[in-house]
Amino acid sequence: MRAAPPPSGGRRPLPRRPLLGVALAGAAAACAQAQTAEPRGNPALNPPPGLWQIARERGLTFGSAVQANLLNSDPFYAAAYEREAGVLVPEYEAKFAALQPEEGKFEFGGFEAIIRWGQNRARTTRGHALVWHNAMPDWARAAIGESAQRARGVMEAHITRVLGQTRNTIRDWDVVNEAVANPPGSDVPQATGEMRDTPWLRALGPGYVETAFRIARERDPTLRLTLNDYGVEEDTPAATEKRRRLLALVRGLIRARVPLDAVGLQAHLQIDKPFSAPVFAEFVRALRAEGLAVLVTELDLREGSTIAAEYPERDRLVAERTYAFTSTAIEAGVRTFLTWGLIDKYSWTVTDTGVARQGGTHHRGVPLDWEYNRKQMWRALARAFRGERPDPDGWFR
Ligand code: XIL
Repeated sequence: MRAAPPPSGGRRPLPRRPLLGVALAGAAAACAQAQTAEPRGNPALNPPPGLWQIARERGLTFGSAVQANLLNSDPFYAAAYEREAGVLVPEYEAKFAALQPEEGKFEFGGFEAIIRWGQNRARTTRGHALVWHNAMPDWARAAIGESAQRARGVMEAHITRVLGQTRNTIRDWDVVNEAVANPPGSDVPQATGEMRDTPWLRALGPGYVETAFRIARERDPTLRLTLNDYGVEEDTPAATEKRRRLLALVRGLIRARVPLDAVGLQAHLQIDKPFSAPVFAEFVRALRAEGLAVLVTELDLREGSTIAAEYPERDRLVAERTYAFTSTAIEAGVRTFLTWGLIDKYSWTVTDTGVARQGGTHHRGVPLDWEYNRKQMWRALARAFRGERPDPDGWFR
C-alpha cells in the first residue's frame, strides 16, 4: 500500500484520524460511523443517486480505478465506491508485474478480490493492462530482450493464462497500453519514431500491437479489445501530432483486419493546456468512423503550476474543464467514463511524485475530496451526464 501524504493546501485540511480499527463492515456500518465519529463520506452530503446511477439514466457507464487493499482496509473508501462506481478498474492489480511476478507464477489475489467485491454488488470489472512497458517485472524485461521468439512466447503465455483465468468475469480488457510515442513538445517527449520505444517494440517491432490483439481474440473471441493511450485530448501542437499518430496506428490495424474493438482515451487532463471541443469531438468521431467504440478510461485533472487560483476557485476551474470535456465526449459518442480514482487523497496525482502538484498544495482532480465528499467536479460530471448546464455564473452548486 502506498502511504498518502498529509493533506496540504487546497481546502482547509481536516486532521487525519486513524480508522477505528474496524474490519470492513459494509457500507451501512461505514455510513453510521461517518455520521457519528468521522466526517468522511458524510451520507447527508452524498445521497443517492451516485454517479453510476446518474450515468445509467442516460445510457452511459461510469466507474473508477480502485485499489484492492483500500477496499479491504478503509470502509469509507469502500462506501464511496459502492455509492459512485458502476465499473471497477484495478489500478495496479491486473498489471503484468502484479499478475506474473515470476515467470510462470501467476498471482490473481488482488485482482480477484476486486472482481468479487464488484460481483457482490452487481458491478463489473475491467482489465488493465495486458501489454505495457510499465509495471513489468525485471524477469520479463530481461526475457523480452533475449530474442523476438522469446518475447513472443512471454506475451503469448501471459495473455493466454490471464484471459483463461478471467474468462467468466472480465469482458473488457486494455490489451495494449500506451503504444504511441510522445511527439516533440510533449511533457515527456520521446526521441525516436511514431511508436513508443518499449521493450516490446525493440523485440518485436511495431507489429507487437497486432500480435497482442490477435492472441487476445484467439484466446477469448467475445472479449472487447481496447487500445488505450493518453496525451490526445488537448489542443496543443504535441496533442495534435499524437492524435495523428494514434489515428494512423488505428487505421493501419483496421486495414490489416486486426481484431480491435475500442480505443481508450486516458484523459489525464491538464487544465493549464487549452481544450477545444470541436477539435476533440472531431477526433472521437474519426475513431468511431473506423467502427470502434471510444471510451474515456482514466479521467483526472491536474492544475499545472501556472494556475495560481486558490480554493474554491481551483475547484471551479477543475469542474469547468471536466464539464467541457465530458459533455463534448458524450456529444461525440463516448458512452463510458472512468475516472482514475475517486478520492483526492488516494489519487496518483497526489501520491505519485512524478505527477503531484508542486508548491505544497495537492491536486483536486477526482470527484470526491480529501474527506470522501462530493465536490464541484462530481457535480460537473453529474450535470454533463444529465445533459444539464452549469449555473449561470459558471459554478456547479
Ligand atoms: C498509475 C497508477 O495510478 C500509479 O499508482 C502507479 O504508480 C503508476 O501507474 N496510465 C495508466 C495507468 O495506464 O496504469 C497509470 O496508473 C496512470 C497512467
